[in-house]
Amino acid sequence: DIPQINASIVRDFATAIVRNVPKAHILVISNPVNSTVPIVARTLEKAGTYDPTRLFGITTLDVVRASRFLSSIAGTDPAQTPVTVVGGHSGVTIVPLLSQSSAGTAVEQGSEAWKALVHRIQYGGDEVVQAKDGAGSATLSMAYAAAKFTNLLLRALKGEAGIVTPTFVKSPLFASQGIEFFSSAVELGPNGVKKIHDLDNITAQEQELVNAALPELKKNIEKGFAFVQ
Ligand SMILES: NC(=O)c1ccc[n+]([C@@H]2O[C@H](COP(=O)([O-])OP(=O)(O)OC[C@H]3O[C@@H](n4cnc5c(N)ncnc54)[C@H](O)[C@@H]3O)[C@@H](O)[C@H]2O)c1
Repeated sequence: DIPQINASIVRDFATAIVRNVPKAHILVISNPVNSTVPIVARTLEKAGTYDPTRLFGITTLDVVRASRFLSSIAGTDPAQTPVTVVGGHSGVTIVPLLSQSSAGTAVEQGSEAWKALVHRIQYGGDEVVQAKDGAGSATLSMAYAAAKFTNLLLRALKGEAGIVTPTFVKSPLFASQGIEFFSSAVELGPNGVKKIHDLDNITAQEQELVNAALPELKKNIEKGFAFVQ
């Protein structure tokens, strides 16, 4: 059971971080991110070194895929076609807010083409696994996504202003529904998380995607917490 193996690895890394670099910024990329981030949070919390402004789940690969897939339809350059992806980092919890992208009008909200695009963004990882046919998962694009997010954080830590990117963090957005972690656009600053943006104006179709994501996300987060009990 790979998620179980990753859970132990991530917990043990968190324990080593507590002992050796308690003030480190921690970027969690091991899947399932929706559960591994809560595992790290709870492990740090138990050790008394938890600072939510320094803990991030990397969801950048979903942003990269959303930009790439939308661009291929809109005929734009993916590097100039950012898409805010919110929620979590697996399947139905991945919610691309295509309406907020400059190229988003290329696909009509709620149309079959929109549904297919959303599905491709949510399950792009499966496409890679199938294409590699037993030889692993999205190793290179994951490395690209990790480098991209890490560079943004390093620039913000050095004092560059106005860096905003989606990442899975402790968030107030759906905390009242028992969902402690959520990915939305986050402004990064010299101490890590500076400001968590809300979802702004989303369409009714995107709201439906959020509604579908929340129960699954809640389960995933609770599973992570349960692992550290
Ligand atoms: N967040 C994302 O966007 C994203 C995307 C794809 C994959 N992933 C995750 O990234 C991780 C790595 O994926 P991969 O395809 O590179 O896997 P991989 O199997 O190719 O590599 C895993 C590496 O971890 C090492 N390892 C195993 N146990 C270890 C331990 N106890 N301590 C230290 N190292 C250990 C292995 O030797 C191997 O080199 C997985 O957790 C995967 O789920 C995340």
